[in-house]
Amino acid sequence: MALRFEVLGRFNRARAAQLTLPHFVCQTPLFMPVGTQGTIKGLATDQLEEIGCQIILGNTYHLALRPTSELIDELGGLHKFMNWPRALLTDSGGFQMSPVDGKPMLLTPEESIQIQNRIGADIIMALDDVVKTTITGPRIEEAMYRTLRWIDRCIAAHKRPHDQNLFGIVQGGLDPVLRDICVRGLVDRNLPGYAIGGLAGGEDKDSFWRVVAQCTATLPEDKPRYVMGVGYPLDIVVCSALGADMYDCVYPTRTARFGTALVPEGVLKLKHRAMAEDTRPIDPTCACMVCKNYTRAYIHSLVTKDSKGSQLLSFHNLYYMMQLSRNLHSSIVQGKFPEFVCNFLQKMVKCVM
Ligand code: GUN
Ligand code: ZN
Repeated sequence: MALRFEVLGRFNRARAAQLTLPHFVCQTPLFMPVGTQGTIKGLATDQLEEIGCQIILGNTYHLALRPTSELIDELGGLHKFMNWPRALLTDSGGFQMSPVDGKPMLLTPEESIQIQNRIGADIIMALDDVVKTTITGPRIEEAMYRTLRWIDRCIAAHKRPHDQNLFGIVQGGLDPVLRDICVRGLVDRNLPGYAIGGLAGGEDKDSFWRVVAQCTATLPEDKPRYVMGVGYPLDIVVCSALGADMYDCVYPTRTARFGTALVPEGVLKLKHRAMAEDTRPIDPTCACMVCKNYTRAYIHSLVTKDSKGSQLLSFHNLYYMMQLSRNLHSSIVQGKFPEFVCNFLQKMVKCVM
């Protein structure tokens, strides 16, 4: 096992931990920005360090096609290739394959692991069969059992267990019986960490949170738990309260490209004409470089015409996610998690209380 996971504080099921990976010592809960071609659009790696980013997600499928995993391996691995000294995580590729261009491509568990071994990330993901939670019937069960069969092929193919951590992924849709079989099957394999997959695909929040609650209740206390594809601030707060530790999502950077900023009240649409003469920063309470230097009016003027607009918004949005991660961690360590959650919800959810 190439990681250490030390719980520093708890509040009910929520935990704050120190996750020591080969390339970085991380504090959890944490959010991982998603890069595609070995880059987070519009942000240099030193800016990502500056805002406190701890782990970046590299996209195996994209990297395998271009520039190819062989070349990345030859050039000394993805850390060196993209000049990122901190931790990296690669997804197995299966989840990304389907929606890209519709062209069928065969990816076996062995190939996925071989590619990820070449890329060299601190955490690599098992190849899983992902089915949208909005479908029902035997396909969900089939995908879960396939995911369980594939985990053993992934473990057998993994050549770098000494410096890369293979995480298993829990599937099973919204069915508690299937989720339970999958969690127990993966826990039996004694992996360094576990992910909860197949969520955030259009199911309602109640069903989503229920699956997370069920999985975290059974997953081992002393291993990291990663909820895949989750990136709405509210979901991260709720999942952390339920005992999850890690998250990734394209949302903060994708929504930036559509002119949307993440703020304590929810979102701020910089394209709106009300922004044209607004001389305030995006978020007056934010300490990021963008909020210290630029007005809403300026960003509004850029946002449709110049990529600088979405770059500034991406910077702010990722800073917001990093600040959220830090606040979750420190509030749990300091025994102030309920106060943090109340405060967060009071700003985010506009109801009379
Ligand atoms: N990204 C978001 N959800 C998933 C999932 O269920 N599996 C994988 N491999 N990646 C994901
Ligand atoms: Zn800001």
